[in-house]
Amino acid sequence: MRPGVIAKYREFLPVTERTPPLTLNEGDTPLVRSRRLAELLGVRELYFKYEGANPTGSFKDRGMVVAVAKAIEAGRRAVICASTGNTSAAAAAYAARAGLEAIVVVPAGKIATGKLAQALVHGARIVAVEGSFDDALCIVRTLTERHPIALVNSINPHRIEGQATAAYEIVDALGDAPDVLCLPVGNAGNITAYWEGFKRYHRAGRARRLPRLFGFQAAGAAPIVLGKPVPNPQTVATAIRIGNPASWQRAVRARDESDGRIEAVTDEEIVEAYRLLATHEGLFCELASAASLAGLRKALEHGWLSGSERIVCVLTGHGLKDPDTAVQFGGWLQKAPPEVEAVESLLGL
Ligand code: F0G
Repeated sequence: MRPGVIAKYREFLPVTERTPPLTLNEGDTPLVRSRRLAELLGVRELYFKYEGANPTGSFKDRGMVVAVAKAIEAGRRAVICASTGNTSAAAAAYAARAGLEAIVVVPAGKIATGKLAQALVHGARIVAVEGSFDDALCIVRTLTERHPIALVNSINPHRIEGQATAAYEIVDALGDAPDVLCLPVGNAGNITAYWEGFKRYHRAGRARRLPRLFGFQAAGAAPIVLGKPVPNPQTVATAIRIGNPASWQRAVRARDESDGRIEAVTDEEIVEAYRLLATHEGLFCELASAASLAGLRKALEHGWLSGSERIVCVLTGHGLKDPDTAVQFGGWLQKAPPEVEAVESLLGL
């Protein structure tokens, strides 16, 4: 039974008796023990936190349910966000659930079809700007200063608190924090949320240790790695195509306090990891999510990690959000006439 994150982690969330019990039964996502890839990479204990199993197909549901519930509590009638796709899908779904209006601002032509379809079908009003995610975020920030609309990007602290529930689930499942958590970094809200979550659970006596956080940006969109904003970020992993992350300083703090790293992985490494997850573990995630595994491989190659650790890779979003990419990379597909013999010979049976 999935009660939803507000009901399940109420004592760790900023909820009051006036917070509506909003939920789409998000959270409680699988922590899948790796078999084949752990062996291939030489990792003793490896898990994948499969966030694509959330109702809208990404980890964003955890923070969005809290942000929308708090927006209702504050008397707001509408929510707004900038997005590379997943935040807008979650905002649109939870706004629909709650009977609020949703407005989303996205970089034109740079969001996966499935994510756009989600925002459309849930009835959000969508503005596609000829610019980057960073431009879209600037616009929505200004609009919420001028109008009584709730901003539900991860600069909203309720988003971060909701997303921290993923850290609680990992500790609850493993009995303690892992040694290392690997995850993709875009706007840097999620790495911030995990660190806050692990620290809070540790303070509450639910975990004995704290993990090292290893965050990975795409090489063409790696401002934190480079130490300066990237004006025109480029990567196949559109979800993390961000040149000036809103939670930059907090991500750096999470990295340093946890004795972790934030590094870059190339598009080729991301694509390879994406295929490995699908072909070797049966886990279909989106390209951005595969940055966690691409980064883990890099960390092992460089000796930053030995493989004797207990490691969790976060798979942030579902692969079906972006079927165009999957089909584009192809696989084994042949045409045949509708006859047994023809199919049999094609298959070499
Ligand atoms: N993975 C996926 C699938 C994402 O959609 C995002 C961010 C990230 C990783 C990175 O997380 O931004 O907290 O560092 N997507 C945002 C969006 C930007 O608009 O959907 P982050």
